[in-house]
Amino acid sequence: MKSTRIYQLLILLSLVIFILPLSFAVDTLTQGQVIKDGDGEGLRSAGDVFEFGFFTPGNSTYRYAGVFYRSVPVLSVVWVANRKTPLDGTAGSIAIAPDGNLAVLDDEGATVWATDVAVATNDTTAATIKDSGQLVLTSATNGTVLWDSFDHPTDTFLPGMKLSLNRRTGRRTIFQAWKSPNDPSPGKYSLGLDPTGSGQIFIWKARRPRWRSGQWDNTRFIGSTMRALYLYGFKLVPDPYDKGSMYFTYTQVNSSLLRFVMQWDGVENTTLYDGERKAWKPVWVQPVTECETYAKCGSYGICSDGGSPICSCLRGFVPRSEDEWRRGNWSAGCVRRSALACLFNNNTSTNSSSTNSNNSSAADSKGDGFYGLQGVKVPDKSDWDATVENGGDCRSACLNNCSCKAYAQVSGIGCLTWGVDLIDVYQFPQGSGGGTDFYVKLAGSELGGNTKTKIWKAIVISVSAALSIMIILCVLSWWKWNAAIKDCWKRDKTHFSSSISMKGRVDLSGPSDNTQEAGNDPELPLFTFDFIASATSNFDESNKLGEGGFGDVYKGLLPGGQEVAVKRLSRSSGQGQEEFKNEMILIAKLQHRNLVRLLGCCIQGEEKMLVYEYMPNKSLDAFLFDPTRQELLDWKTRYDIIEGIARGLVYLHRDSRLRIIHRDLKASNILLDGEMKPKISDFGMARIFGRDQNQGNTTRVVGTFGYMSPEYAMEGLFSGKSDVYSFGVLVLEIVSGRRNNSFHNMTNIINIVGYAWRLWTEDRITEMVHPTIEESCSMAQVLRCIHVGLLCVQDHANDRPDMQSVVLMLASEAALLPTPKPPTFALERSPNRMDTLTENAVESYDVDDRTITVVVAR
Ligand SMILES: *[C@@H]1O[C@H](CO)[C@@H](O)[C@H](O)[C@H]1NC(C)=O
Ligand SMILES: *[C@@H]1O[C@H](CO)[C@@H](O)[C@H](O)[C@H]1NC(C)=O
Ligand SMILES: *[C@@H]1O[C@H](CO)[C@@H](O)[C@H](O)[C@H]1NC(C)=O
Ligand SMILES: *[C@@H]1O[C@H](CO)[C@@H](O)[C@H](O)[C@H]1NC(C)=O
Ligand SMILES: *[C@@H]1O[C@H](CO)[C@@H](O)[C@H](O)[C@H]1NC(C)=O
Ligand SMILES: *[C@@H]1O[C@H](CO)[C@@H](O)[C@H](O)[C@H]1NC(C)=O
Ligand SMILES: *[C@@H]1O[C@H](CO)[C@@H](O)[C@H](O)[C@H]1NC(C)=O
Ligand SMILES: *[C@@H]1O[C@H](CO)[C@@H](O)[C@H](O)[C@H]1NC(C)=O
Ligand SMILES: *[C@@H]1O[C@H](CO)[C@@H](O)[C@H](O)[C@H]1NC(C)=O
Ligand SMILES: *[C@@H]1O[C@H](CO)[C@@H](O)[C@H](O)[C@H]1NC(C)=O
Ligand SMILES: *[C@@H]1O[C@H](CO)[C@@H](O)[C@H](O)[C@H]1NC(C)=O
Repeated sequence: MKSTRIYQLLILLSLVIFILPLSFAVDTLTQGQVIKDGDGEGLRSAGDVFEFGFFTPGNSTYRYAGVFYRSVPVLSVVWVANRKTPLDGTAGSIAIAPDGNLAVLDDEGATVWATDVAVATNDTTAATIKDSGQLVLTSATNGTVLWDSFDHPTDTFLPGMKLSLNRRTGRRTIFQAWKSPNDPSPGKYSLGLDPTGSGQIFIWKARRPRWRSGQWDNTRFIGSTMRALYLYGFKLVPDPYDKGSMYFTYTQVNSSLLRFVMQWDGVENTTLYDGERKAWKPVWVQPVTECETYAKCGSYGICSDGGSPICSCLRGFVPRSEDEWRRGNWSAGCVRRSALACLFNNNTSTNSSSTNSNNSSAADSKGDGFYGLQGVKVPDKSDWDATVENGGDCRSACLNNCSCKAYAQVSGIGCLTWGVDLIDVYQFPQGSGGGTDFYVKLAGSELGGNTKTKIWKAIVISVSAALSIMIILCVLSWWKWNAAIKDCWKRDKTHFSSSISMKGRVDLSGPSDNTQEAGNDPELPLFTFDFIASATSNFDESNKLGEGGFGDVYKGLLPGGQEVAVKRLSRSSGQGQEEFKNEMILIAKLQHRNLVRLLGCCIQGEEKMLVYEYMPNKSLDAFLFDPTRQELLDWKTRYDIIEGIARGLVYLHRDSRLRIIHRDLKASNILLDGEMKPKISDFGMARIFGRDQNQGNTTRVVGTFGYMSPEYAMEGLFSGKSDVYSFGVLVLEIVSGRRNNSFHNMTNIINIVGYAWRLWTEDRITEMVHPTIEESCSMAQVLRCIHVGLLCVQDHANDRPDMQSVVLMLASEAALLPTPKPPTFALERSPNRMDTLTENAVESYDVDDRTITVVVAR
């Protein structure tokens, strides 16, 4: 009787000992412990996010050991151990094998799956599931990670994982899809990095490419319309010591669960967990359309979703086989109709090609030229032309190399050229925002004869169309316009008559062979080319004041003795007639003491010039960042500059009759007059806004990296709030005396916003104040400026104040300012190729400060 009781007790005890480890073991399994399938629960991560245990997928009857979300009600598996060797029945278990490896055992204790690491004989190990979903096997003696499930992924790319490629060893991360929703065994689809090191993500079906992402330009993939990947911290990290080796990774940005799944059906599905609706909601799905299938239209073919058929040959190319093409078999692709001229005239071609650009036409009948496409996913197998990064010209690099078949100049990447057949070209639908500009080299004869006459025809047609529309409009609304126009001209007249008399007699009677463009505004003084050439001593180098984004600026002396600044727009700058006219008409109508005044302009043939009042103290950056001259800027001067810029912007945004967004506000665009009062210059990119329109979506992003707000740089969305962002950066620069981009050698800091934020959170913000103003300043006022600056650089436009509030905030000492949120955009941009390049270039030449133009959408 007694003995049976002891027996029972012993049994109970042994049971307790056996079960004990599990009820205690939350996230770690140590040697000697066992997770039994029948017990119902596996390892749980510390924060209860993931579980490592047994599951049955879909309607399968098998059991698998794997990692899945605990907090998500529908089974969402992120990793499977025994995907090839399922267990039949619920008698399986997980344990650390005697040799220290993590193992999945069947009902008879035989190993069906195990890690394969060599563990020292006298060492013990433990397996831990982390809140990131990572399952690691660590050495108990020294804590070394011996094995990591993130290095052996199945089909899910989780935050913190690395999608890597090692060119030296050939090793790369591959996500292998399941066979079906019910079967985790490896299916036919896989996802990984292009083994050639192009930085593109590929999906393969068996071994053949099914989809590619297109090149990564630091914010998005060219071949994808998902433009906000950066929001998820997505970045490409190149291996600095091994060319072509790299990895992609991303981070958990907020508490929402995020995952990339290579689905069994060949679709990459990125989903975000919506805790309220208790469901995964898709963020990004690729590929979507048939056109995105790799090489759908063969070489030199282009695929367009709306087309019928979807495939066509690129211009200048014809189907290789008409019959098959007509039958809808596009795989053979297209061939060139007229051979390139450079193939024939070996010895003269390079000369005639390079002088081509001198002649300003795309191609003459003998040479080769380019046909441009917009919004395309550029072909696979591109080469990156590094020489162009150092100031070369992508177009001529391609033109001068006979084997170059096409080129694309992509912001964030640089110059891409193609020396092989062009394959997998996709025309994004209009307005989708995907793709980039792409230029295909063609024989001159394919470009449709003289492009000049074409352009002229186009101009004649558009001008006559515009004229007829205007006539109709005038007739229709003459009575409404009459008063307004009268009023506006009256005001302009007073402005210009005063500026003309101020500069003395200006010879306006000289021949001006192309006054048509300016004809709409008869009050704007027009100068002839000769007049300006003589005023600037023939654009002498010694008169050069600087180089702006769109051309050089010269100092000039008018016959009356007045000094002026002449901006000569470079022909190759990409600034078209349209932008020029914008700048001219806008500035002529604006008058404010914090804006530079336009005195006149010159349009003659290809030459376009603007004549501004001259600012003896040049631009703000010449003081702010100059070690000796920055001492001239005491705090009061700096504060007045900040305030002046703010007032100028309020005028632009709100008070002027036209609402104007500057879009390229930066230190070099702030000029200083004789009294060091700021004047905003360079309105070329401003846009006229309708009365109640406060946000626009533009086809061309114009601006300067580092000053551009996230929504503008990424989405092309601009509003007054994008100027507010630039203003915020400017304020931080003025206070600290440091350039926005002068932070390369500081760890984890990429720009001034990140720097300011770090000091702010660490309560060391006073360290940011430039030493020369520390004495002259009121620290409270300086801190207020920094605070306002940080509010201006918030990620979301809605979190930023408008310029009017900024002026109020700066002025009132009593106002309570909101607390800024972390500027993640500035904190999380990846160190990229462009940054490393400018790092080298920054000493000799200020590349970073130049205006860039990115085509975002059409
Ligand atoms: C189980 O899955 C297979 C394959 O997806 C499907 O054909 C079958 O109808 C499913 N059975 C049930 C009962 O859902
Ligand atoms: C930790 O132990 C492992 C063997 O279990 C050994 O390979 C490794 O070198 C050790 N690391 C250190 C830092 O001692
Ligand atoms: C384990 O064995 C290695 C040699 O095999 C020895 O160097 C090490 O000191 C041993 N560690 C322990 C904790 O005994
Ligand atoms: C996390 O960020 C994503 C993307 O910006 C957003 O859609 C989601 O609502 C955010 N979740 C939370 C909990 O803030
Ligand atoms: C992507 O995943 C979500 C959640 O798992 C699912 O609802 C959706 O249908 C998937 N999308 C595609 C295209 O498979
Ligand atoms: C399509 O054309 C290729 C070669 O041009 C040929 O090999 C292939 O069999 C054709 N496919 C079909 C379905 O006709
Ligand atoms: C190359 O140039 C020489 C002299 O300029 C000329 O005689 C020859 O015909 C040219 N060859 C070709 C292939 O154009
Ligand atoms: C001109 O170049 C082509 C192709 O590169 C080559 O086949 C041909 O022999 C060259 N001709 C001469 C005269 O060099
Ligand atoms: C071609 O250019 C080179 C210099 O680049 C020059 O020496 C040569 O004379 C030129 N040839 C012709 C035919 O213009
Ligand atoms: C054409 O190019 C030459 C040098 O390549 C240059 O001297 C000349 O001024 C250019 N002509 C024009 C009209 O720009
Ligand atoms: C451009 O080239 C053509 C011949 O190719 C020549 O007739 C014309 O004079 C050139 N124009 C200029 C401005 O150099």
